[in-house]
Amino acid sequence: MTGQNNKPIPDWETLTFSLTETDFMYRSLGNTGRDPVWDEGAYIPFEDIMISPAAALMSYGVGVFEGLKAQRTTGGKILLFRPDANGRRMQNSAERLMMPPFPTEQFVESCAELVRRNEHFVPPPEYGSLYLRPMQHAIEPQLGLGPCSQFATHIFCSPVGSYFRGGSPRGVRLKVLEQGRVAPGGTGSAKSMGNYAGAIWVAQQWKDQGFDDVLYLDAHHLKYLTETSGSNPFVLLRSGVLVTPPLDSQILPGITRDSTLRIARELLNLDVEERALSIQEVIEDGVEMFCTGTAWTLLSVRELVYNDQVKQLETEDLRGKLLKVLRDIQTGDREDPFDWIREV
Ligand SMILES: Cc1ncc(COP(=O)(O)O)c(C=O)c1O
Repeated sequence: MTGQNNKPIPDWETLTFSLTETDFMYRSLGNTGRDPVWDEGAYIPFEDIMISPAAALMSYGVGVFEGLKAQRTTGGKILLFRPDANGRRMQNSAERLMMPPFPTEQFVESCAELVRRNEHFVPPPEYGSLYLRPMQHAIEPQLGLGPCSQFATHIFCSPVGSYFRGGSPRGVRLKVLEQGRVAPGGTGSAKSMGNYAGAIWVAQQWKDQGFDDVLYLDAHHLKYLTETSGSNPFVLLRSGVLVTPPLDSQILPGITRDSTLRIARELLNLDVEERALSIQEVIEDGVEMFCTGTAWTLLSVRELVYNDQVKQLETEDLRGKLLKVLRDIQTGDREDPFDWIREV
């Protein structure tokens, strides 16, 4: 088979959250004038792709993406975490951008088969994971702005280590912005390209000043927490209640957020609320804070800076408990009561 065992295996000790090319990627082409819309796809060597400069994605950013991980267990199995949830979210994102949904079963099976074909790139347990990046784009050459009929779904993967390597073990420092990440009623709940393109400049202004990332307030009131550039926030209040903002058009429905909520409620019997959480309430009553995401896992926030107010968050006990349960399920060290794990 072409492309097999060609690319070098990285040094597992020095993995970061950056691209290492692997041997195979997956491609399926879609056309809404056909039934079924999507072809069965193929596993091809990881390589540059040819695309018309007039493709809708090139000018208009008609594209969505996903991120999920495969984990090697101490017993030698490889497990995917909730790939069906990523498949459903990619369908929702695609529909928001007027693209046809990619079938979830095909999504899950192609993720699993891609991992099998790149099996030697899955790091040993404790060293990291294989990150999968599914994407869907409008590839139709088209000058005017409007719906398209030709699409491509690609999935590639890369071994990765932790997202904030070398950062403080006590978590991240966030700048709270009086600005929305996206517009109310916009594309915030879709994982669409444009949301991220515009956010790079914003975060970089503050990274240059020593912050790890930014925390956006809601675009309408400039008062309530929404999310960071790539993770959902949780705050433990003095009263003992764990709070996270409710999902709306400005928030990406994180799969780690949903998993954390279910573990907190159903396995740890914690008092959890999904409700609007103002930055003032966090400053006055917050005792612990962490952010959740596939890349971030559960990462403590040690400091928030909001205008001239600085909020230090000293503890990370709850985050530690929740992360242990999540990790143990993801690595097969604990029984999976939610049917989240898919063995590859
Ligand atoms: C804006 C944003 N919020 C939250 C998340 C966390 O989502 P998940 O837990 O599914 O990775 C991500 C990452 O995909 C993101 O890009």
